Amino acid sequence: MTTSCIIRGLGHCVPEKRLTNADLERMCDTNDEWITTRTGIKERRIASAGETTVSLSHQAALKALANAGIAAEELTHILVATFTPDAYIPSAACMLADRLGIKGRTCMDISAACSGFLFAIETARAFVCLHPEAKILVTAADVVSSRVDYSDRSICVLFGDGAGAAVITGAGADFPTGSGRVLDVLLATDGSANDLLTVKGGGSGSPVKPGETVGRSFFVEMNGREVYKYAVRAMSGICQTMMAKHGLNNDQIDVFIPHQANMRIIDAVGSRMEMPAEKVFTNVQKYGNTSAASVIIALSEAREEGFVKDGDMVLLSTFGGGFTWGSALVRF
Ligand code: ACO
Repeated sequence: MTTSCIIRGLGHCVPEKRLTNADLERMCDTNDEWITTRTGIKERRIASAGETTVSLSHQAALKALANAGIAAEELTHILVATFTPDAYIPSAACMLADRLGIKGRTCMDISAACSGFLFAIETARAFVCLHPEAKILVTAADVVSSRVDYSDRSICVLFGDGAGAAVITGAGADFPTGSGRVLDVLLATDGSANDLLTVKGGGSGSPVKPGETVGRSFFVEMNGREVYKYAVRAMSGICQTMMAKHGLNNDQIDVFIPHQANMRIIDAVGSRMEMPAEKVFTNVQKYGNTSAASVIIALSEAREEGFVKDGDMVLLSTFGGGFTWGSALVRF
């Protein structure tokens, strides 16, 4: 039984509306110099009224389906990785299926915060082992701005909104030019660190009653320094484990795409791995941290721009609340 799966098509979508560091200077007590030196972020995209996790996923999905040459009607499964679904019920995946005009498929959401894309890819890999003919749409999307308090300068400068999509099939089929073979995925979690990065408000542990206003817990809360230290150790560690498992050294990795949280984390992970900077793809400067969407937007953009070429070995890595983290190896 094969355990690899094929990425047939990629797509991404970010909102038109830009929120620059200069805009943030007018909204809270921050400045471009602090944001740039601490994070490398210059601007982010922010959803306008009516733009949601499902609508952004839909746009990304249409691009990925077109890129794959697969019609929505052919899909058998839809997986949406997000921590900001449009609603608790129905799932974003059910809503996305409706937008795509299909019914009767297996649709579900995956909750792994910023690591959601790799958790969804691993789930898709399991589905194609069970159902070799499966055609699976994976989207990873977040409207993080819906859970950001824009008076909290320690948080609001970091995040943006967006969506990415991938169409996945089994490895038994053909391998059209432009596809990527997912060779392996490694995932990990540590629930004991759950208080370091949370959005609790509105959950069953912090319910909101009719007429109450939401408090700070409704928004992203984070111990930035501890998250930074853990994220650097976890991402570099799981990538090194992946490379050792497959007998790879840095020369055999063509492109490294880490979670686009901020430049200091990306630089620290790259430096621990002794990965040459020219192999590391970044777009955090223009999108900020788009949570679950971060790595799939980066992969889709890197492919579109020719940063990832046919034949390249690509190493992906994610880290998010939970804590959750992961790594994937993809040969294009
Ligand atoms: N503008 C100006 N000053 C600020 C801002 C801001 N936006 N935010 C915080 N400060 C101030 C603080 O109040 C503090 O002031 P003080 O010394 O007077 O108390 C000072 O800057 C230093 O604050 P620190 O939090 O110590 O700054 P640090 O150097 O640790 O950088 C940062 C903060 C960038 C958040 C860093 O901790 C980090 O990168 N953490 C990782 C967080 C992250 O990316 N999380 C995303 C989610 S998880 C993930 O995706 C990996």
